[in-house]
Amino acid sequence: MNTKQTYALIGNSPAFRQLLNTAQLVAATRASVMISGESGCGKENLARHLHLHSPLANKPFIAVNCANLPENLVESELFGHRRGAFSNAMNDRDGLVRTAHNGTLFLDEIGELPLTAQAKLLRFLENGEILPLGCDRPVQVNVRVIAATNCDLEQMVKAGRFRADLFYRLQVVPMDVPPLRERVGDIALLTEHFVKLAAAKHDLPLISFSPEALRVLRDYPWPGNIRELKNLCERLTILCNGQREPLGADNLPLNLREKKMAMASKASLSLEKNERDMILHALEQCKGNRTHAAKMLGITRYTLLYRIKKHFPSEAGLPAGMAA
Ligand SMILES: Nc1ncnc2c1ncn2[C@@H]1O[C@H](COP(=O)(O)OP(=O)(O)O)[C@@H](O)[C@H]1O
Ligand SMILES: [Mg+2]
Repeated sequence: MNTKQTYALIGNSPAFRQLLNTAQLVAATRASVMISGESGCGKENLARHLHLHSPLANKPFIAVNCANLPENLVESELFGHRRGAFSNAMNDRDGLVRTAHNGTLFLDEIGELPLTAQAKLLRFLENGEILPLGCDRPVQVNVRVIAATNCDLEQMVKAGRFRADLFYRLQVVPMDVPPLRERVGDIALLTEHFVKLAAAKHDLPLISFSPEALRVLRDYPWPGNIRELKNLCERLTILCNGQREPLGADNLPLNLREKKMAMASKASLSLEKNERDMILHALEQCKGNRTHAAKMLGITRYTLLYRIKKHFPSEAGLPAGMAA
């Protein structure tokens, strides 16, 4: 598996095809990209794909998770510092932006960046210069920036927690990665891809899924998105090692099937309730006359009596005057 295969963009559902088209156009440029989408839906994967298919492919790709930067060190982590710039600065430090020079800087969870660092980042994006802490001469750095977020940045801009000017500067090309439940058409392709990856990784035989198992996978809402599906494929590759025939629904973890069972029992519950209500209504309309009520419901008198027994055992729950 080479790097390009590892960060493949698998999928060809309509929602995903649109993203692939944009990806192809954007990868060829150095434009800033803002990727949004739920956790685990493939934002970082897309960023790496764009980098690997760009003119900067053999230059560094530096991924920074803005949520993990210690609050008091954000600026020196990103823009570097000179030795002695603050009390713990024992050595000069380049900072992550400079490490990405000539390559791609991936700023994950950009919504978590403190406002002061946002201001510095904007200045850098505008003029390509950074000023490491403790330096008095700016350094010219050339990077392509791809940012990602799973928050609603527009809402954050309105609330004053994200700079509007930085938002528009990063938003040159917005790309929204759909959650997995909106691209269920890709589930078969994705599972095939992930079981191959897992088999190669653990040197195990390839597993496959029965149509019934795939149906369960398509019905599940995937709150953890592609990451959750990928982990499941790896787990099943390990735990079902040795099973030659395709996996059935009962090989899948219970929580995947529960959702479907819960939905099925809910549907039958409401069907039951509707039936009960319709019988009551018909009996009321016909003042308790079974023959007339059965006609009104379009069923035989015998069926109606049977259903009354089912819903109102020993006629309990039937309003006064409706009992036989
Ligand atoms: N379209 C895709 N095709 C193949 N693998 C994918 C795809 N999207 C995501 N992945 C894989 O799923 C996992 C989670 O994706 P990631 O990019 O880390 O999600 P996010 O950054 O949105 O939380 C990663 O291992 C990634 O390689
Ligand atoms: Mg991520």
